[in-house]
Formats: sequence, structure tokens, C-alpha cells
Amino acid sequence: MNPYTTLIPLTVLCGTLSAAPQAPVHDSFTPGQIWMDNNGVHINAHGGGILHNHGTYYWYGEHKIEGDAGNYAQVGVHCYSSKDLYNWKDEGVVLKVAENDDKSPIAKGCILERPKVVYNSKTGKYVMWFHLELKGRGYGAAYAGVAVADKPTGPFTFLRAGRVNAGQWPADMPKEKRTVAIEGGVPKLTSSSYPADADPDAFFKRDFPGGQMSRDMTIFVDGDGKAYHIYSSEENGTMHIAQLTDDYTAHNGRFVRAFPGRYMEAPAIFKHEGKYYFIGSGCSGWAPNAARSAVADNIEGPWKELGNPCSGPRADKTFGGQSTYILPVQGKPGTYIFMADIWKPQNAIDGRYMWLPIRFADGKPKIEWQDRWQLP
Ligand code: GAL
Repeated sequence: MNPYTTLIPLTVLCGTLSAAPQAPVHDSFTPGQIWMDNNGVHINAHGGGILHNHGTYYWYGEHKIEGDAGNYAQVGVHCYSSKDLYNWKDEGVVLKVAENDDKSPIAKGCILERPKVVYNSKTGKYVMWFHLELKGRGYGAAYAGVAVADKPTGPFTFLRAGRVNAGQWPADMPKEKRTVAIEGGVPKLTSSSYPADADPDAFFKRDFPGGQMSRDMTIFVDGDGKAYHIYSSEENGTMHIAQLTDDYTAHNGRFVRAFPGRYMEAPAIFKHEGKYYFIGSGCSGWAPNAARSAVADNIEGPWKELGNPCSGPRADKTFGGQSTYILPVQGKPGTYIFMADIWKPQNAIDGRYMWLPIRFADGKPKIEWQDRWQLP
């Protein structure tokens, strides 16, 4: 039964009904507005990503609660499904935090962000990756977590979490540079620029034995079925683009470092006419900053930066949002949706979604604000 079509007669009749308010039937995107699900509740899937599977889209994101406690994972990862991308059905919480087990890496009160789900056709499993910070340790752990399910709507079973690619050299690091000796020692941390006189590989080398940091992240599956984990590493200074194993549940040891010292977060990747495009943000926590974009012929680079893809008023702040995913619309080649979050850290559950169309001009992705828009 399609819950949306059944709502149409109810909406028509609503003058004569005194029942609880019905969920509206959406026929457009209204960025930044409350976006109600099929139950008339604001969608709760922040920092999200989309899986398209057998004709249905699944939207996975962070379930937030009210207040600033909502910036910590109190519930888990929420899933919604849709056929048309406007109207979303609540599929419930598909990965639950561990309620009564403080020893679990995903203990209630941890930080679990930016979940992304992909389908592995070899194993028939749905694989979820996310950024995980251990309870009570702020953003210090910088772990990647992974969970699997037999169905897109879960339940997902947590497998493990940890740092990434311990003891592995990046494919793009010349052999003569492969030493853990840090010239001048580990530099003092800065949040958005790499100290000019420091060894540019200092944080990488520091973390070589124990594994690389992994914070803001996405997963990209290429046309050949190879999956990549793209994550802010090295104190957020440098992105890593790392291959996953054939079953998508671990890293296979091959990775490259991209945008060294550029301090990027919120990575999203898509492929258009044979080229790879990257959109991300700078590093300013929940506060918006200017988006970045880049292009490459090969996902492992070299990447060429293309500047801020946004234009018009508030383009320097990504219209108040921060990227989370880029969705290729099925059956409409060349149609991509830039998905972003407008964070509300004081009342996390009130975070808004900002979905905007991407167009291309001069070989660059372009994003402009729209109050309301529809798919072509
Ligand atoms: C943002 C990041 C979010 C969250 C936040 C915490 O930069 O993209 O996912 O981690 O910082 O301040």
C-alpha cells in the first residue's frame, strides 16, 4: 500500500475531518523548511546519505533529539524510504546505539555521524559506514564504524570501529618519503590551516602505527563495483580516499591522500560524464562556511580544485548549509541533487535539509539557492 496516495483523499476531506493533522503530499523541494514524513513529523536523518535499491530510495541519517544533547547519538541511525524523493515514509531506527552498555563503541551518548549505506551485490548485504567518536572522548577517537544488514531497512548489526589503514603507506607517497621520522616534531594543532614550517606529513606519520584518523566521511561506489571511503584525516587537514574490500566491510590497504593541508570536511563525490566531482566544506564546526569543489579523471586523483560551486546571496556560507551527499537521480542522466544540512546545534532535532540542484557550466558544478524547486 502506498501511504501517500491514500493520503490524497484525506487531504481533500480534511475540512470535514477533525482528526490529527495529516502529512502533506509534497510535489517539490523547499530547502531549509520543515520537511514532514508520512506521519507529519519533521524528517530526522541528519548528515545523511541515500541508497537507491530496486526502485526505492532509502535516506539514512543521524537521529537527533531536542536540545544540545541531540548532538550526541542518543538513538541511532534513522531510515526513510521514497519512490519520488519528495515524500518519505518513516522506516524507523535501523542501527540502534547500545542503551545499557557503556563499553560498546556505539554506547548511547557517543558521537555517530554521517552514516552512508551501500549495497554489496556479491554478498547481498547492506553495509553502513559512519564516523564514530567514543563516548566521553569528544572528537578524539576519530574512528570509522561499520555495520551490516540483510535488508535496506535493517536492522543493522554493528561490526567494528577503529582508526583506518594502520601501518599502510599511501599509494601516492613516493618510496623515498616513506619514513615515520617527523622533521621538527609534531606541530601544534590548528583547526583550519597547516603550520607553514611544519613537516607536511607530520600527523600522517604520527598516526602511521596506530591507524589514520577518520572523521567526516562518505562512501562512493564506482561503476566497476569498487567502493571507496573518503574521509577527513590527519586532524582534518587532508582527505583520504581509501579502497574497501570486495565485501565493503573493511579497508584493503590501498589509499591516497587528497587536498593535503586544505582542511576540508563534509565530503561528497559523484561521477558525471566520466569525471569525478568532489564537493565539501571548510572546517568551522556547525557554523557554515564556503563550499569547495574539485574534479579528477581518476578517483585517486590528481584532483583539481574548482572553487566554491555556490553563487548568489550567502554563497560564501553555502546558504547556511554544509554538504552531506550528492544524489544522482535515477532515470534522469545528468540530474544531481546537492544534499546539505543546516545544523541547529542548540536544538539538534530542528536541523534542516537543504537539497539543491547541481548544474554544470564551463565544466564546473554550480549550485544556486532556490526557495522551491522540482525535478526536471
Ligand atoms: C562539522 C562536521 C559535522 C560535525 C560538527 C561538529 O564540521 O561536518 O559532521 O562533526 O563539525 O562540530
